[in-house]
Amino acid sequence: MKMPRKWIALVLVLGGAVSVWAQQREENPYTTPEDVAIGAEIFQRRCVTCHGGDGTGGRGPDLTRGLFRYGSSDVALYRTIRSGISASGMPRLGLPEERVWRLISYVRSLSENPRVTIPGDPERGKQILSSQSDCKRCHLVNGEGGRLGPDLSEIGWMRSPQHLRSSILNPNREVDRGYRSVEAVQKGGQVIRGVPLNEDAYSIQLMDLEENLHSLWKSDLEDLRQEDRSWMPSYQGAFTGSELDDLVAYLYSLRRKKDSP
Ligand code: HEC
Ligand code: HEC
Repeated sequence: MKMPRKWIALVLVLGGAVSVWAQQREENPYTTPEDVAIGAEIFQRRCVTCHGGDGTGGRGPDLTRGLFRYGSSDVALYRTIRSGISASGMPRLGLPEERVWRLISYVRSLSENPRVTIPGDPERGKQILSSQSDCKRCHLVNGEGGRLGPDLSEIGWMRSPQHLRSSILNPNREVDRGYRSVEAVQKGGQVIRGVPLNEDAYSIQLMDLEENLHSLWKSDLEDLRQEDRSWMPSYQGAFTGSELDDLVAYLYSLRRKKDSP
């Protein structure tokens, strides 16, 4: 069958449009100082709650390093900021294209003079973590350790040094919903405490401190309480100031690269 000429023309035009569109995305078209300034304003409105007023991070990562876990090219940053990162706490904010590009210009400007210098020694921190403390009872670090708390193998990509420090000193300040401990009181009176792994209308699965799994029917329970407390004990006073610096430096250095480009 022969394709009508009009169609061929249409296909060519569409194909051209798609490739222009694809090309536009490879490089940031908004890089003037004004673009950076506009990007800074958008950043103050949309990003500081997690990345800090100066971009050095908080609950979200430090963006002043010039190194990005999900890729450092313009295209990769575009994708991260435009679409968010699912299930990571980095939301999809639905910003229009031109704002995303200006944000990228601003974020890049942050790494021109890196602001985060941290005092500790990561090597010493690594030793403290494996020899003197019980962090690995609950945390995996590069495949070793417990599973009650979050895996810390890539925590340096995700959190700022201040956040890491306060996680160690005040674990109860900001507890991820998924890690709030739950107390299940059974009808016989037996109490099981654990972190919730799964829950639906009829049942709940908990992992207790010894990593035993408990699968419970809600109809067998007298009470089910979610606590705001974290299972992580506070280490206030457990380390000297310089040990704490070393631990934070070690955690901050934990940055295995994502496999994705
Ligand atoms: C509700 C908190 C939150 C908000 C708001 C937020 N982010 Fe994030 N962001 C995160 C978290 C958490 C991560 C880390 C995700 C990970 O590493 O898995 C992240 C990751 C990123 C990354 C990727 C870092 C890397 O190493 O690849 C960039 C870039 C980024 N955010 C930029 C922004 C910008 C720009 C804004 C504002 C438009 C913004 N974020 C708003 C929480 C947030
Ligand atoms: C009894 C179990 C337990 C022990 C021991 C423990 N943690 Fe935790 N940790 C948790 C849990 C559960 C969470 C998640 C809830 C929260 O944020 O408090 C957590 C959270 C964290 C976070 C924040 C992670 C994030 O995503 O922001 C860091 C950092 C951390 N722990 C470091 C440590 C270090 C360092 C030690 C040892 C000095 C340690 N933990 C000992 C259970 C533990």
